[in-house]
Amino acid sequence: MKLKTKDLLTLAELTPKEFTQLIDYSILLKKELKNGTKPLLKNKTLTMIFQKPSTRTRISFETGMYQLGGHAINLSSDEMQLSRGESIEDTAKTLSRYTDCIMARVYDHSLLEKLSKSSTVPVINGLSDSFHPCQILADFMTIKEKKGKIKGLKIAWIGDGNNVCNSMIYGCALSDVKLSIATPKGFEPNKMVLKESEKFIDIDLTVDPIIAIKNADVVVTDTYTSIHTNDPKRIKHFLPKYQINQTLMNHASHNAIFMHCLPAKRENEVTSSVIDGPQSVVWDEAENRLHTQKALLASIIHA
Ligand code: CP
Ligand code: NVA
Repeated sequence: MKLKTKDLLTLAELTPKEFTQLIDYSILLKKELKNGTKPLLKNKTLTMIFQKPSTRTRISFETGMYQLGGHAINLSSDEMQLSRGESIEDTAKTLSRYTDCIMARVYDHSLLEKLSKSSTVPVINGLSDSFHPCQILADFMTIKEKKGKIKGLKIAWIGDGNNVCNSMIYGCALSDVKLSIATPKGFEPNKMVLKESEKFIDIDLTVDPIIAIKNADVVVTDTYTSIHTNDPKRIKHFLPKYQINQTLMNHASHNAIFMHCLPAKRENEVTSSVIDGPQSVVWDEAENRLHTQKALLASIIHA
């Protein structure tokens, strides 16, 4: 499949049909991997720029390019002339002459927008302060695998209305999923993202995690401190009320699954008994970063 969008910065660039097709294509690539992936990206290169640390994103993109017959170049922004003041625009124009796609993990989302404007090759957001679209592709693939469907389910997001939550809202809007979000006051997701998405789906916003989680098919959380909001004082606004523990999970549907993008801060946003328990699908979710990003790369890099 070929995507119409040049870049994936938020997830909202995709149509509902493309989103569904990407998930189905990821499931197919996962099956095909057992017999070897076709070299769909032979001689293609992906340049990865990391301003912030990563385990899953780095390894899954690099492995994915390798499996597709291509190559990934990993750069921390400190190693580039960016660190000595070369503009992001000049960096984008230069990289576009060498590489077939750029994936960047940045602090400030506007940097990705600048990269996207000045580059002639696709730009993929590998996490910004505002969005994490690749994570949500993997999350919806995992939901489809575990639940056999996506449409009509209820997802509960409990905790910080952060970058992952913003992309989760777009994911729900693209796939007709009911979303309930419980955050403390002042930690709600982006208002513009909510407004745009409420045109397509019902989103309940509450401060009460018990209301949000009621009858949910999927329960999702993330850390209370992100790389760009790393103030430990934030945690007191969330604990103990928003912690996903077994007592809170018991308010969800009896066969609800638990998801977390990882890395997790155990005993903060989730207890070990839940993340290691029978309802948790976090390791499949992490693995699915590989399959969804392979589907994305093969669909966004045009011959
Ligand atoms: N979920 C995720 O993006 O993990 P990393 O920060 O390890 O890449
Ligand atoms: N919200 C987290 C996600 C990490 C994958 C962060 O931005 O640090």
